[in-house]
Amino acid sequence: MTALPAPRYVVLAFVGLLVGVAPAADQGGTAADGAARVDYLLHCSGCHRPDGAGAPPEVPSLRGPIGEIVGTPTGRDYVARVPEAAQAPLDDEDLARVLNWMLREFSAATLPAGFRPLDAQEVGAARKRILTDPLRARAAIAGRYEAVGAHGSR
Ligand code: HEC
Repeated sequence: MTALPAPRYVVLAFVGLLVGVAPAADQGGTAADGAARVDYLLHCSGCHRPDGAGAPPEVPSLRGPIGEIVGTPTGRDYVARVPEAAQAPLDDEDLARVLNWMLREFSAATLPAGFRPLDAQEVGAARKRILTDPLRARAAIAGRYEAVGAHGSR
């Protein structure tokens, strides 16, 4: 009749918090989303930063313009042909997954309506034709980074 068994409540509250937080850590998504996020953090974020902001002008931001770029067949092809993506130590399925995750996570607002996610087959075919001059390819598709994707990070 003295003190409440406080520690037990604290433990229960903590467990509840973990259970509640786990799906949120995946942004309410599936296990595939979680795996894609881990691949992004391991293989892409070192240059593009965890939030996709990149380090312009050397490393382009993945926030915004890339969503418009994948609205055309050439643009869909392009994202898997950029050397750093094409050569990532990921199989075609995992590269497609991380690219789709990147598009939804950072460029949802600019994705075309009804965007069809990239699939492993098209990503596999595209990455074999790795771009030898990605900056020139980018300029031909959507202008230079500065023109399309500056978003204030000069
Ligand atoms: C070593 C640094 C580095 C890593 C790691 C890296 N990138 Fe990049 N990324 C770049 C650079 C630099 C460019 C600009 C093109 C170039 O010079 O190859 C670029 C360009 C891109 C573009 C084109 C952006 C645009 O607006 O045209 C996409 C998409 C992209 N990267 C996705 C990824 C993904 C996905 C990963 C992980 C699988 C990744 N990158 C890993 C440095 C990196």
